[in-house]
Amino acid sequence: MGKRNLLVTGGAGFIGSHVVRLLVNKYLDYCIINLDKLTYAGNLANLRDIEHKPNYRFVRADICDYDKMQEVFATYKIDGVIHLAAESHVDRSIKDPFVFARTNVLGTLTLLQVAKEYWNGDYEGKRFYHISTDEVYGALDFDGTLFQETTKYDPHSPYSASKASSDHFVRAFHDTYGMPTIVTNCSNNYGPYQFPEKLIPLFINNIRHGRPLPVYGKGENVRDWLYVEDHARAIDLIFHRGRIAETYNIGGNNEWKNIDLIRVLIKEVDRQLGRPEGTSERLITYVTDRAGHDLRYAIDSSKLQRELGWKPQLCFEEGIEKTVSWYLENQEWLDDVTSGAYRQYYESMYHNR
Ligand code: NAD
Ligand code: DAU
Repeated sequence: MGKRNLLVTGGAGFIGSHVVRLLVNKYLDYCIINLDKLTYAGNLANLRDIEHKPNYRFVRADICDYDKMQEVFATYKIDGVIHLAAESHVDRSIKDPFVFARTNVLGTLTLLQVAKEYWNGDYEGKRFYHISTDEVYGALDFDGTLFQETTKYDPHSPYSASKASSDHFVRAFHDTYGMPTIVTNCSNNYGPYQFPEKLIPLFINNIRHGRPLPVYGKGENVRDWLYVEDHARAIDLIFHRGRIAETYNIGGNNEWKNIDLIRVLIKEVDRQLGRPEGTSERLITYVTDRAGHDLRYAIDSSKLQRELGWKPQLCFEEGIEKTVSWYLENQEWLDDVTSGAYRQYYESMYHNR
């Protein structure tokens, strides 16, 4: 494949920043345009190591802004989209569902419509790749079943309902207008640069500071954890070699009950801080369960493994060790995020633009 002008939305967020880093370092002849609104979850500090590379551009914009999206497509002659921008936290969606409908549904529809108009039926070499979640499939029981690409959608939270809706729009644009779309549904990611509202970074930070660890319900819910760089590698592979109009599930084949995972985190943080084993067990605090809390997620990614030869490279023990040490060594990043200092920097930088 030759030179490309690739639009990555949400590239200042957790997964997006890993995707942008991988693409910028790997495809020197591409132009990678990272478009991000810089909501509370977007942080340009996640990309400091690549921000001066000649094949990287950053645009601060809202994917719901139709005119701005038209301008970006025309200015950069966009021929491929990897769409990650979204509101991503389930607990926030329970408190304020509207922003999830706006960004995840209307924002995705805006991008689709602008891409359709800009490409104007010439789909040769074009691609619109939408990043979705396993949460659209609903919840599994403790019976060993896995989410397949064919599993019926059954979202329960406003977040997963908004992602499900965006997935439907993406597929509708293929079926109706012939847009060259691909959708992937991935399980829980973990690793560096994740906003510390999500379980793993929140708990690492709390353990470090001796703060309570709020375990929802009985801590029996199960998630399937994948190291974020393995997801980024899958996205690169699927963008370049995945089949148009297909869905691929991506997962770690790595199920953990929350409470067992929390004990692993406690052990690893205490070990890396030189504390006696078990020191932070006392921080475990059972709290009221999340409303509509999905019991279990688990992904069957055998289609992706079979068709494109992808598999996770990092085992969980290694991933957790790397992740814990990254957060402990990057206290400044965590402190800037938790104090809000990172926002002041952008607001002054983008003031009056
Ligand atoms: P994140 O919340 O860390 O980052 C989202 C990014 O999108 C932020 O940089 C934010 O500023 C940007 N954004 C939000 N609204 C925007 C708007 N209106 N216009 C432009 N930019 C906007 O999210 P994440 O965890 O990195 O997830 C990225 C994508 O992957 C999402 O689509 C999410 O649904 C999906 N996903 C996440 C996981 C996971 O475990 N985190 C798993 C599967 C799928
Ligand atoms: O499955 C993929 C999804 O994984 C992504 O689509 C979402 O964007 C991402 O946020 C994540 O959703 P979860 O709700 O599974 O992740 P979270 O880190 O919020 O919670 C993980 C589990 O831990 C879940 O069962 C709820 C529980 N939990 C979470 C928090 C923040 C707690 O017990 N206490 C907490 O404080």
